[in-house]
Amino acid sequence: MPISTSPEYYGYALSHIHDSGFVEVAGSAADVLIAALGEDNVRHGPVTDLGCGSGTLAGKLADQGFCVEGIDQSAAMLSLARQRAPGGRFRQESIFDAKIVPSIAVTAIGECFNYLFDQQNGAPALSRVLKRTYAALPVDGLLLFDVATPERASTSGKHFHKGDGWVVLVETTADKSRATLTRVITSFVEQNSVYQRHEETHRLRLIDPDDLGEELKALGFEVSVSTAYGAAKLPAGCMSFMARKTCG
Ligand SMILES: C[S@@+](CC[C@H](N)C(=O)[O-])C[C@H]1O[C@@H](n2cnc3c(N)ncnc32)[C@H](O)[C@@H]1O
Repeated sequence: MPISTSPEYYGYALSHIHDSGFVEVAGSAADVLIAALGEDNVRHGPVTDLGCGSGTLAGKLADQGFCVEGIDQSAAMLSLARQRAPGGRFRQESIFDAKIVPSIAVTAIGECFNYLFDQQNGAPALSRVLKRTYAALPVDGLLLFDVATPERASTSGKHFHKGDGWVVLVETTADKSRATLTRVITSFVEQNSVYQRHEETHRLRLIDPDDLGEELKALGFEVSVSTAYGAAKLPAGCMSFMARKTCG
């Protein structure tokens, strides 16, 4: 199926920066999922990772014997993911269109449901993904994800981060009446001893966690909500959801 997002999001530079400096959340989410599946005595089986990025979760799950199918709109992210989890299957698609194969767990880590890269993203599109996820899971199957809530508007301002061979400047503005965030991201990445400048603008739809919790319960999930994955706290204004399918 053709992707309905634009190639301008998470291009090579930002994918490299994400992979180099921003994958702690995905690593912690993977640990939480592996522990939860282990408590259910589930030690292998298919896992679908929506918005898999550079494959941190896929790599950790694959190391434990799970078989991961990753879906992402970014070709650069998928190329990193294929290197990290060579046994995984990766598809370049919008998570709002993608078919979700039968899976023992489905994940969406790092605000994937919030990004407005795909113009069809909105409450109805998210509802359709949640319904498709429910249908793809067995009874006791798990859905693990996090979202940026309206509280994330408090992160407005200018921030910078740096790593080995890169610097990234992020200017965030919030539109509280529309419940959206805009991040203008300027990055400088060293290539052949020269720093190349790259720009991306990301818009995110902020999601009410109470409404989302009610929607998951109405579908038949048992839900627990947190501001962390295990001991690793999420960024301010983000919430994680661990949802367990309760009936067929
Ligand atoms: C912040 S990154 C998180 C990546 C990965 N889950 C992690 O935690 O390392 C968000 C990812 O979601 C992907 N994404 C956002 N909206 C998407 C959509 N509609 N369809 C597919 N991928 C999407 C982006 O390309 C990006 O790789």
